[in-house]
Amino acid sequence: MAALPRLLALVPLMAESHAIEFHGAGWLAQQRIMLERARSLQPTPVATKDRGTAANNDGVVPWPRLLRELRTAQQLSLVLPASSLSLALTATELLAPKLRGACFDAVLQPGATFELIRPKLTLLALLALIAWLLNISSSILFAQARWTTAMAARVRLMASVLEQEPAFFDAQPPGELNSRLLSEPERLESLANRGPERALNALLSVGGGAALMFALDWRLALVAVALRAPLIGQLAAIAGRTVGLLNVLQQRTLDQANALATEALAQPHAVAVHAARGSILDSYARRVEEYIDVIRATLLAETTLRFTRLGVDSLTSLALLGFGLRRVLDCSISLGALFAFYAYADRFADGCQKLQELLYDLVTIRPACQRYFELIDRQSRMAHTGGERPASCEGELELVDASISFPGCDADAALRHVSITVRAGETLAVVGPSGAGKSTLLKLLARLYDPSDGAVRLDGRDVRALNLEWFRRQTGYVAQQPSLFDFSVADNVRFGAAAGALPADADVQAALEAVGAADFVSRLPHGLATRLGEGGRRLSGGQRQRIACARALVHYPRILLWDEATSALDDGSERQVHAALRAAATGRKCTAVLVTHRLSSVLCADRVAVLRDGRLEAVGTPAELAGRPGWFRDNFYPGGETP
Ligand SMILES: Nc1ncnc2c1ncn2[C@@H]1O[C@H](COP(=O)(O)OP(=O)(O)OP(=O)(O)O)[C@@H](O)[C@H]1O
Ligand SMILES: [Mg+2]
Repeated sequence: MAALPRLLALVPLMAESHAIEFHGAGWLAQQRIMLERARSLQPTPVATKDRGTAANNDGVVPWPRLLRELRTAQQLSLVLPASSLSLALTATELLAPKLRGACFDAVLQPGATFELIRPKLTLLALLALIAWLLNISSSILFAQARWTTAMAARVRLMASVLEQEPAFFDAQPPGELNSRLLSEPERLESLANRGPERALNALLSVGGGAALMFALDWRLALVAVALRAPLIGQLAAIAGRTVGLLNVLQQRTLDQANALATEALAQPHAVAVHAARGSILDSYARRVEEYIDVIRATLLAETTLRFTRLGVDSLTSLALLGFGLRRVLDCSISLGALFAFYAYADRFADGCQKLQELLYDLVTIRPACQRYFELIDRQSRMAHTGGERPASCEGELELVDASISFPGCDADAALRHVSITVRAGETLAVVGPSGAGKSTLLKLLARLYDPSDGAVRLDGRDVRALNLEWFRRQTGYVAQQPSLFDFSVADNVRFGAAAGALPADADVQAALEAVGAADFVSRLPHGLATRLGEGGRRLSGGQRQRIACARALVHYPRILLWDEATSALDDGSERQVHAALRAAATGRKCTAVLVTHRLSSVLCADRVAVLRDGRLEAVGTPAELAGRPGWFRDNFYPGGETP
């Protein structure tokens, strides 16, 4: 008996040996390499809402955090009745073998008649009927709990991800968040809702099966228990060390394949025009192949563990058969009782298997769901709640010795010690060579990033002290590459408006007219209700820019931040957008900061800021700057003329 644990302990050693060849490579050696790769995927330390609980140093979720998540995810109103029904089902199933055994013994009695066993058979039929009803009702309740939990976990994860500061998304591989959102909540829900019931059921089967076996024949029962019980813990521990870690690697390699597919499918025109179909397909096939290698290693570990258990199970059954038949020959037990005993031994084995599967799920889910916990527990560096909500906003913007370096970029900071004040109601144009930091400056003003040093102020207050939602309502931002959604034109213009303050159709129409978009929108198949396709791909570049400008204007913001918002427009359309901007600036006293490369846009501004290599080179009116040597004059007035 003592040899069994030693034998089991050899399995991981076997799995790590270099002994056997498979597919031309040492598959066990490959397994070891995979395990080492999986171990090397240590989580990056993150700021968490529950400090110290999101991930251990060994990269797995601590037990208390996992259990707390499982408790939160549980749908108790569904799970409790479902678990009670399921336990009742196990109890009926435990009764049946004893009755069946009694039927056999009754038939073997001298002078037995069918009438004698009819009541027992009727009772068995009744038990089968009850089991059928219990099975249906508990399965429906569990399925409901499962979907409710999975969807609730997805919404929670989505809420946590959307709460993160924009810089967080810069570091995410394409498609990764999406795949987490879909896969990991489902893993957790099954443990959350079925875990306790599976544990109870397994314990009832193990306890009930063992008790009834001991009641029938304690010697036989001792053999059955001693041979099977040590398997449970051993196999679960081995599974955690191998399959759990390999699941992490599986997810990582699948993410890499998905990331490539997500990027390529999001930009089919780029793939086509660069004739990149072949190279994309090759890289995708390579990544899928890597994934298959990990699957192969996981299958090896899983299959070895499963069949080890089945092998020990059948050896145990054989030992029990021999020992049991000897006991019948010795007249120590009746044949009917032996049949009943086997049924209970099966039930006991089934319970052991369920316990082992449950332990396996618990052990393997900790490394596998580590990323889910990282995401759900991550504390955003920009709090959405709290902060001041001033009663009014004048719109004076200030950068005070602001610098920013992007995470992971060893190069110089993108902006260095920039100080500038944009007075309320003023229009400032920001110009400079490509890569000078113009968009970065605008993103600081829009609070998409916070400065690494220095501060951004609105009306004299540090924007970090202001309520983020309130701040966003004061600003209308148009990005260098405007992002539209596959919504209708009207919904794209209204995008982000608070539920109680949705701009009316008339406001949407007015904003579209102001930026010269009403005409082409009226020609779309369904006018304002026309959907724009993914990223607004059904519109031209200039049309997209005008919808984005209308979106920024429709909220009547105090501050307009436009990043080359008219770069794709013809001169006439640009004049129209600038007229709208001037109307906003004068009518609504709007402060505007425009990043631009075009002289026509520069001339709309009260003052111009010139950025070079992340530093502020000069600030002044267009006429002042045109009169001074520097980047502005060299680029906009190379002949020395004045505006
Ligand atoms: N999210 C980011 N992560 C890392 N580096 C970034 C990021 N955004 C910008 N940078 C870097 O910061 C520098 C300034 O970029 P920025 O987009 O502000 O330039 P720009 O002046 O707007 O140029 P352009 O006129 O070409 O739009 C560049 O060197 C760029 O590589
Ligand atoms: Mg830019």
